[in-house]
Amino acid sequence: MKTKIINQLKEIVDIDLISFHVPGHKLGKVYEKLGYLDIVKNIYKMDTTEISGTDNLHSPEGIIKESQDRAAQVFKSDKTYYLVNGSTCGIQSAIMGVCSPNDKIIVNRDCHQSVINACILGDIEPTYILPKINKETNILEGVDIKEVLETIDKNLDAKAILLTYPTYYGITYDLETICDYAHNRGMVVIVDEAHGSHLGLSTKLPRTALQQGADIVIQSAHKTLPSFTQSSMLHIKGDKVDCNKICSILRIIESSSPSYLLMASLDLAVDIYETKGEELMNDLLINIKDFEEKIKDNKLIDIYNEYDKTKIFISSKKLGITGYNLDTILRDKYNIQVELANYYGVLLICTIGNDRSDFKNMIDALNDISERYSLNKMINHIEYPMIIPEKVLNPREAFYKDKKNVKIYDSIGEVCGEYIIPYPPGISLLSPGEKISKEIIDYILLCNKKGMNISGIKDSNLEFIQIVKD
Ligand SMILES: Cc1ncc(COP(=O)(O)O)c(C=O)c1O
Repeated sequence: MKTKIINQLKEIVDIDLISFHVPGHKLGKVYEKLGYLDIVKNIYKMDTTEISGTDNLHSPEGIIKESQDRAAQVFKSDKTYYLVNGSTCGIQSAIMGVCSPNDKIIVNRDCHQSVINACILGDIEPTYILPKINKETNILEGVDIKEVLETIDKNLDAKAILLTYPTYYGITYDLETICDYAHNRGMVVIVDEAHGSHLGLSTKLPRTALQQGADIVIQSAHKTLPSFTQSSMLHIKGDKVDCNKICSILRIIESSSPSYLLMASLDLAVDIYETKGEELMNDLLINIKDFEEKIKDNKLIDIYNEYDKTKIFISSKKLGITGYNLDTILRDKYNIQVELANYYGVLLICTIGNDRSDFKNMIDALNDISERYSLNKMINHIEYPMIIPEKVLNPREAFYKDKKNVKIYDSIGEVCGEYIIPYPPGISLLSPGEKISKEIIDYILLCNKKGMNISGIKDSNLEFIQIVKD
C-alpha cells in the first residue's frame, strides 16, 4: 500500500512498543485494562459533527456542557473548557484573553513556544525570568521564587504572569507564594500545567496549580492522562478572568470543526480520573518505588525524580554514552521508547497506562546495557548556556520584519529572525527578535553534532540562519 503513514504506524503497533512517552494511554493499554476496548475500537463511528444531539464545543448547551461541567467538578475548577488543538490553543487564548495589544506579561524564559507565538499574535510584550538549570543533567528546574517576586516588583505594569509548572522534567516549586504575591499586585496568574494533569490523583504528588491559587490552568490531558493526542483542558478559577473573552479567542484560533473523537477521549479520561484514577495512580507509584529500589543496585545508572515521581530522568553519564545514544539503543535493541533525550540522559513519562512489566523491561534493559558499557569513560561535560538572549525587538515586530539568510557564524551580534528550538522539549534557545551570541551558536552546533534535533530553523543543516535585515 502507498499509505506511508499508516504503514509505519502499523509497524509500530505490530512491534508492541513499550511506551515511556506520551500519549498517556500508552498505546491504548489502559483502555484494554479497564474494559473500554469496545468503545475505543469503534470510536471511528463516533467521528461526527454538530448534528442533532451532539452539541457544539463553541457554545455548549448539551452533552459537551455536561461533560465539561463534570470535568470542572473533578479537577476542582469553576469552569473547564475542552480543547481540541492541544494546550497550545489554551495557552494562546489565556494570554490573549487576559492581555491586550501592547500589554506586558512576565513568563519563564524556558516557556513553550506557544507562549511566544501568543505574544506574536496578540502583540504582547514578554518579560523573562531565567530558569534554573541542573549542571549535572541539563534539566531545566523551574524558577527561583525570589527571582520571580523581584521580577514582579520590577514589572508592576504587567497584566499577568505565566509559569510552566511542573517543568517537562516534573520539577515543581512553591507556586502558592507566587500566586499570592502576583494577586496582591493585581496580576492574573496563568499556569502552563501541560505536563501535570495527573497531579491531583495522589497526595504523594506535588500540589496542582489550581490548589495553589492559579487563575487559569492549561493541561495537556493527552500527555499524562488517557486521552487522545491534542486533547487538552483549560480550567478557570475565581473571578479575575473574563471567561467570555477567553472563549471568543478560542473561537478564533480553534477549529470550527472540533473532533468528537478528541472530545470523547476527554470525556473518557475524566471518567477514568474520577472513578479509578487514584487507585491506578497508587499502583503506578508502587511500581515506580520498586523501580527506584531495583535500580539502586546498578552503580552506572543515576535517576532523578525528586518532585513528580512519574517523570524519571535516567542519566547515561556513567555509561559513557549520551542520552541520544541511550534513546537509540533502548528503541533499537529493547523496543522501549522514551519521551526525550538530552545530552546527559533520557526522560521517562510514566502514567497510569504503564504496568509492572514495563518497569521490569526497563530494569532488564538498563542492566544489560550497563554490562555492555561498563568499561566506557564518563562523557565530557557540556554546559547549557545560562543566559537570556538580549531582546532587541518584541516577537511580533521581529516576526513581520524583512529577513535574510546568513552563514550561522556570521549571525553573531545580529537579531534572530526565526526560532531555534531543540525538540523535544520544544523550548526555544533563540526566538525572533533576540540577539544571537557565540555561546548559543556553539551550544546549538555541539548538541546537533551529538544528536539533538533542532526545529524551527528553516535550514535543517544548520549552515544558515535567518536574521532580521538592518
Ligand atoms: C511545557 C509545555 N507547554 C505546552 C505544550 C503544548 O502542549 P500541546 O502539545 O498539548 O499543544 C507543551 C508540549 O509539549 C509543553 O511541553
